Amino acid sequence: MTDKTQSIHGQWSSRFAFILAATGSAVGLGNIWKFPYITGENGGGAFVMVYLLCVAALGIPIMIAEIMLGRRGRQSPINTMKSLAAEAGADPRWHYLGWCGMLAGFLILAYYSVIAGWALAYLVKAFFGVFMNSNAEEIKRLFENLMESPIQQIFWHTVFMVLTMHYVMRGVQNGLEKAVHFLMPALFVILILLVAYAMSSGAYEQGMAFLFNPDFSKIDADAVLTAMGHAFFTLSLGMGAIMVYGSYLPNHVSIAKTTFFIAGADTVVALLAGIAIFPLVFANNLEASSGPGLIFQTLPLAFGHMGGGWLFGLLFFVLLIFAALSSSISLIEPAVAWLVENKNLDRRQASIWSGSACWLLGVGVVFSFNIWSEVKLFDKNLFQLLDYLTANLMLPLGGVAIAIFAGWMMKQSHAEQELEIPAEGFKAWQFLIKYVAPAAVFLVFLHVLGVL
Ligand code: PHE
Repeated sequence: MTDKTQSIHGQWSSRFAFILAATGSAVGLGNIWKFPYITGENGGGAFVMVYLLCVAALGIPIMIAEIMLGRRGRQSPINTMKSLAAEAGADPRWHYLGWCGMLAGFLILAYYSVIAGWALAYLVKAFFGVFMNSNAEEIKRLFENLMESPIQQIFWHTVFMVLTMHYVMRGVQNGLEKAVHFLMPALFVILILLVAYAMSSGAYEQGMAFLFNPDFSKIDADAVLTAMGHAFFTLSLGMGAIMVYGSYLPNHVSIAKTTFFIAGADTVVALLAGIAIFPLVFANNLEASSGPGLIFQTLPLAFGHMGGGWLFGLLFFVLLIFAALSSSISLIEPAVAWLVENKNLDRRQASIWSGSACWLLGVGVVFSFNIWSEVKLFDKNLFQLLDYLTANLMLPLGGVAIAIFAGWMMKQSHAEQELEIPAEGFKAWQFLIKYVAPAAVFLVFLHVLGVL
């Protein structure tokens, strides 16, 4: 057992280090690749509103709960849930929550790494000036060529997975922490530049209207589920990533303040990405609903035509890859921490085992974009299936379980002691995790199932 003031895996050197790492986990492909394309597929404004509402009413309170459980347990999510259930006198089976989270992280990373691989391929294209003066048709062709090539995608997916394992091996302070130090501010700056370009590209107003004028007739229960699931996905909630990061958090740090910062930064990055992308979509007569290729078919157009576009393109893809890496290491960390605690492996072996298994599933995901694109279950190919299963089902359910544990199982005095927030704030938080979060998630599920 650990001594409760520190995890055996190490500790963040400061509050700032934790903020960087947790923000690094939250900000990733979810913000820059996924948010714009699912917004495009689900009709824009109304979808964005539901997503923002879910971040505020579910995401923030559950993030507070998840960090809190992690810090109190100080171990991998599985063992944290075991010891917290024992402390609370709750059913020991609560530790299955840790298992589900580990599985979700594993399933997400399998496709996350493939998409990050696309970004690596585009980094090379940017370097060789491939986007220069290209038109929308050419840029689209470029993306289709990559989709049609399993070999290229597997190559880049492998490179990304090796990078992830490399950073995970180096451990909390050396690997995870250093990887994110300069990244966030730089990413922010480049997004602002892209927004500035989008403002001058012509279809800015149309892009903004698409993003921020809600038309609720455009969304149905499925879209609401996707928006809600994305709130969990983008904040890295419901699978133990934030819990395991919380377990490396020093005791004196304010969890609530930190959470507001992380959620705020994450939301701003997603909105900036949307504001940069949709004006380009409309100015070039592209399909807003073109799917996972959306950013790869829009941003290169900007880089191909803006002043300094070569350099900005290069920088953008470098930053996107780092943003993806600082998320991927958190997807696999629960598994690695658990392997180290229970299977007597060192971090190196644990990273190699879990990374390799994920890599293999990722190869299947690559095929789902070409040779297996018609192999479907529930009308979804492997990529779509993994995405739906994790973001729309496992993360919201995991998040609600965390909320229920923190709200109903744990001793209130323990939660108060961890959070140290004023009484009204504590009451509001409790209300959200005890009632609002479980009710909201189940209502949405029932709607999707057609029961309501
Ligand atoms: N939040 C990350 C992103 O937006 C993805 C992620 C999900 C990371 C779940 C960890 C856990 O890209």
